[in-house]
Amino acid sequence: DQSGDDVLVDEWLGWWASHTDVDIENQISSDDGLASRLKKGTEQAHEEAENVAFVKLLLKGKAPLESYVALIAALKPIYGALEKAADRVSRTCPAVARVCDDTLPQLRRYESLEADLAYYRRRCPDVTKRAEAFARRSKATNEYVSSLDSWPATGPKAEALVAHLYTRYLGDLSGGQILRRAAVRAYGLTPPGGTTLDAVDGVRFYDFRLIGKPTKLRRFKDEYRRRLDDLRVADGDLVVAEAVAAFRRNTQLLKELDFVVLGATEAAARHARPTKPKQQGQCP
Ligand code: HEM
Repeated sequence: DQSGDDVLVDEWLGWWASHTDVDIENQISSDDGLASRLKKGTEQAHEEAENVAFVKLLLKGKAPLESYVALIAALKPIYGALEKAADRVSRTCPAVARVCDDTLPQLRRYESLEADLAYYRRRCPDVTKRAEAFARRSKATNEYVSSLDSWPATGPKAEALVAHLYTRYLGDLSGGQILRRAAVRAYGLTPPGGTTLDAVDGVRFYDFRLIGKPTKLRRFKDEYRRRLDDLRVADGDLVVAEAVAAFRRNTQLLKELDFVVLGATEAAARHARPTKPKQQGQCP
């Protein structure tokens, strides 16, 4: 029932807005600092990410558990690589070091992803095995990981790693909080103290306890944006272009998850590119 779904989505958005004290209109700053350039430069890419069928189903609480666990299983090596790259590049690149200093310890997600996977392995071993097999085969995941593993620690591209940190962590602190709520409801995840604001097994990934309560997230994000604005980067255009590339990598992964959710036929039809005629003998 479409209207029922819309009501639920509205409710989640309302919950999220009230817990982060956000006023989206007022977030768009008119200055040209890196933070607002990143936001504006990735607006369209953000819309594309939100519009992937898997994401819409996730928001409505209608994505099968296997697809959600597959997302977690794919994000684990991605965050492993992102956080390793951040530690490595921080040593030689002042811009990356400036963004990571004091923030990375609170943001690191690798261990929470491991904890979530361990929970799902206990709760539904077969589903988790299939989800992990998806992650191992995932082209988007493997390409994302190797690009981060080989990220240069010096030279003009080094500082553009901040675009990847921005894309993932500000996303997790924003839309991620909406997805958390949707997952808690959809997969019957039980908060120990009876409130969804408590630490919940299966969605630790979205839980930023080291920052504090959800109401603290907004202040943290504002500080993160200020840090970005204060950076002296050699090539701001390169950083913005890299953020668009980061969104593209994430959207590729979400589209692969369409195959888990929708089945091969429907997903292939959605992602078919009519402008490129299929040649004989080419794989779909
Ligand atoms: C910001 C929603 C998916 C990355 C936001 C904001 C909202 C939002 C409402 C504004 C927060 C604010 O200004 O404080 C959603 C929803 C999504 C989704 C509903 C899907 C269900 C994604 C994805 C990514 C992403 C897949 C990338 C991996 C970001 C980033 C920001 C952001 C980087 C920060 C923008 C800025 O202030 O510069 N999201 N998002 N989002 N989102 Fe998403």
